[in-house]
Amino acid sequence: MTVHSSVAHWLDQDQRGRSLPQGLYVSREAFEFDTQVMLKQVWLFACTVAHVKNPGDFYLFEMAKTSVIIVRGKDGAVRAFHNSCAHRGAKLCTEASGSNPRIMCPYHQWTYGLDGRLLAARNMPEGFDKADNGLREVNLANIGGLIFICLSDNPPPIEHVAADIAERVEIYNLDRCKVAVQDELVEHANWKLVMENNRECYHCDVNHPELMQSLSTSGFGKGLPGDEADAAQGARFEAFLDERQQAWREAGLYTHLVEFPEGSWHRVVRLPLANGAKSQTIDGQPASRLPICDHPGTEDSSLSVWTQPNSWHHFCHDHVVTFSLTPLDADRSLLRTSWLVHEDAVEGVDYDPDNLAAVWRATNAQDGSLSELNHAGIATDGYRPGVYSLEEKLVDAFKSFYVETARAALAGIEP
Ligand code: FES
Ligand SMILES: [Fe+2]
Repeated sequence: MTVHSSVAHWLDQDQRGRSLPQGLYVSREAFEFDTQVMLKQVWLFACTVAHVKNPGDFYLFEMAKTSVIIVRGKDGAVRAFHNSCAHRGAKLCTEASGSNPRIMCPYHQWTYGLDGRLLAARNMPEGFDKADNGLREVNLANIGGLIFICLSDNPPPIEHVAADIAERVEIYNLDRCKVAVQDELVEHANWKLVMENNRECYHCDVNHPELMQSLSTSGFGKGLPGDEADAAQGARFEAFLDERQQAWREAGLYTHLVEFPEGSWHRVVRLPLANGAKSQTIDGQPASRLPICDHPGTEDSSLSVWTQPNSWHHFCHDHVVTFSLTPLDADRSLLRTSWLVHEDAVEGVDYDPDNLAAVWRATNAQDGSLSELNHAGIATDGYRPGVYSLEEKLVDAFKSFYVETARAALAGIEP
C-alpha cells in the first residue's frame, strides 16, 4: 500500500466518539501524511509578536521538511518566508531565533531585505532580474498578536476566527509584552495524542496538583448533564460563573463561550480562576508586578484560546502563556511554551522566571508523561479504539477536525 492508501484505509475505519485507529497514531505513513499533507492545509500557530519584537528579529518555525522564517520588517509588519535561498537553495537561518538588519545567505551571500526582496547578488548574467528572485512568502496572519502561518496556496478562511480572537485578546496588549521564559519539551508521543490530552480535563484532578490551585475542572467539562457524580459541583460552578459573567458584562468584557462554531477551528472562553486566585501561579498571586491588562474584570479570571490543530493559550491579568505543538516524528512531538510579561517588567525585580513558569512547567511534564503512556499502550497489539467520556467532547472535536481535514486533503490529491 502507498502512504496515502494506508492513511485512507485508517481514516475509513474511524468511528465517531472513539479514539483513532492505531495506524494513525504510530505509523511512519501517518507521520509523513500529517507533516507533508494534512498540516499544510491548515493555519498553524507559530509564535507571538513578542517573539519578533523589533525590526530584524526572526523566529524559525520548523516541522519535518518545513522551515519557515518569521521576521519583523522595518515597517513593523511581521512576514513569513520559506527558509531556502532563491539562488541554489541553501538554508538561510540556522539559529532558532535572532536578529539581523538583512537576511544574508551564508553560501554565496545573496542578500535579502526583511520584506523578502533580493537586494544583492554578485555576477549574475544579463537579464537577471532581482525582482523575480526574492524569498518565497508564506501566508501569515497576525491575530491580536498571535502569529499563525499556513503553507497551503489556498488557506482556509480565517476572517471570522481572527475577529473572534482579536477582539477578546487585544486588551492583553501582546505588542507591549516580551518573552520572559521559553521552554522546549520533547514529548515521546504522537502529536495528536498530545493535542487530545490537552483537550480534556478528565485527567486533571488526579494528575495536576499545581494547576488545580487556580483552575476549576468544572469549566472544562465536569458536571455536564449526565455526569451524575459531579452534578452538584457543576451546579455550584454554574451559579458562580453566572454571577461572575454578570460582573464581566458590566465591565464591558465578552462572556459567551465561542466553541468551534460551525466546524471552525477556534475556541475562546473566559473563566474565573479557582480558589480566589489572581493568576495561574502556585500561590495564586500575580507572577509579575506589572499588569499587562488594565481592563476591569480581568483580575480574577483567565481567557483561554484554543485553536485546531496545534495551539492553546492562557491570558491572565499579569502574564500570558502560549503553547505551540509540532510533530518531530511518529512518536515524538515538540511543545514550545512561552511565558510573556509586560515589556517593562524587570527579571528578578518584578518577576521571578521560575515562579512565573512553575505551574505550566510542572503541568507540561505531567502531561508529557501521560501522553507517553498513552502512545506506548496504543503501540501494543492489544489496542482498540476506545469510547470518549462525556468530559472528552473536545477531544472528539479535535479528532473530527483531524479526520475531516485529512479526508479533504486526500480527496484533493487523489486522481
Ligand atoms: S545558495 Fe544562497 S547565495 Fe547561493
Ligand atoms: Fe493535563
